Amino acid sequence: MLNGKSLLAAPAVLLALAANVANADVALYGQCGGLTYTGDTTCVSGAVCVYQNDYYWQCLAGTAATTTTTSKTSTTTSKTSTTTTKTSSSSTTTKTSSSTTTTKASTTTTTSSGTSTGCPSTMEGYATTNGGTTGGAGGSTVTVSTLADLRTAVAGTTAKIVRISTIITGDGEVVDVGSNTTVLGACGGGMTGGGFRVKKGTNVIFRNLKLYKSPAPTDLIEIQASTNVWVDHNEFYSDLDNGKDFYDGCTDINHGSDYITVSWNYYHDHYKTSLVGHSDNNGDEDTGHFHVTYHHNYFRNLGSRLPSLRFGTGHIYNNYYKDIFISCIDSRDGAQTLIENNVFENSTQVLMTTTNGGYANPVGNDWGGATPELNPGTFTTAPYSYSLEATTGVVSDVTTCAGTCKITV
Ligand SMILES: *[C@@H]1O[C@H](CO)[C@@H](O)[C@H](O)[C@H]1NC(C)=O
Ligand SMILES: *[C@@H]1O[C@H](CO)[C@@H](O)[C@H](O)[C@H]1NC(C)=O
Repeated sequence: MLNGKSLLAAPAVLLALAANVANADVALYGQCGGLTYTGDTTCVSGAVCVYQNDYYWQCLAGTAATTTTTSKTSTTTSKTSTTTTKTSSSSTTTKTSSSTTTTKASTTTTTSSGTSTGCPSTMEGYATTNGGTTGGAGGSTVTVSTLADLRTAVAGTTAKIVRISTIITGDGEVVDVGSNTTVLGACGGGMTGGGFRVKKGTNVIFRNLKLYKSPAPTDLIEIQASTNVWVDHNEFYSDLDNGKDFYDGCTDINHGSDYITVSWNYYHDHYKTSLVGHSDNNGDEDTGHFHVTYHHNYFRNLGSRLPSLRFGTGHIYNNYYKDIFISCIDSRDGAQTLIENNVFENSTQVLMTTTNGGYANPVGNDWGGATPELNPGTFTTAPYSYSLEATTGVVSDVTTCAGTCKITV
């Protein structure tokens, strides 16, 4: 996601596209897209649909690539320079400060409900390592709407995709998810009053789930002694009305878990967000584990732990922190972190290192005027390819694409 404008605009046009198939093509200078537009989106021959603003796309003369592409051309990597090419406008951006190269055509996905977005849907980060994370791919799909059915459906290690069609009210106890499982929310599906746990498991995916208000001691998602978990495009929240210990964590990772990616989630209105490593005294089990990636998450109006990382190795890039009132990244107990191109706004304690004995290599961040605690460590290059976007595009892309109902599931 290298250009906020194209990203914002693409969904609107494609929404319009989905709603209209039979009209005559739009004449030169006519409207062909926009957030509330429902007319035809195909321009007459010789014209292309060009973004003007979020509410107005116009047919202009030319033969440049249009936004009606439905193919996803993806990423190549090289370690020398970065070139960004997008097809929804004519500009090309080249930068040289990054070690990752991304070539991305305008990505279009169409959801089962007929809506479309241009939001990215590809796994990156540590969940791609150690053999990768496929969840229940290849297994059967079952849709559930009750707590009892959910518990049954996610149990066991057989490959399976479990789709939640509504908000299921939990009973305060964890719902244990077995290995080789994908848990998906239909748009608006998820759980409240309880949470998921992966315990001594591997290969689990959580996507598009709306998860909120789980009183302690149950986290919304807990990953315990488990490997290869991807937490992507979910929404997590509670409220700030009940004190910081009333609800438990949103995404807590503990007991030597490893190879986890937490991406494109929207976390808001909560105190203790994501704790990696539950205790200063658990180094024997945790040291050498907790390889975690956090990217493109939208953190808004939260207390702390974004994340708090003990002992492990954290790659934290392209996240947007807004109105964080206690602390943001807390690298502690010897943890090594690489912190790239994040944006912090109206947030305090943006980066803690020396206070709690951790390390950080920050590159390209916009601290929003706050002062990070610096303590350079040894983690300087991530061991996988990834699409690092320019800091200037982060706010737009993250606020547009983080959370639920943004991708096809
Ligand atoms: C997960 O699935 C793989 C491949 O189907 C299988 O070999 C493995 O035993 C499963 N994992 C567990 C923990 O059962
Ligand atoms: C900054 O964040 C605080 C705490 O979340 C919030 O109360 C305040 O309204 C924010 N200020 C601005 C200017 O956004």
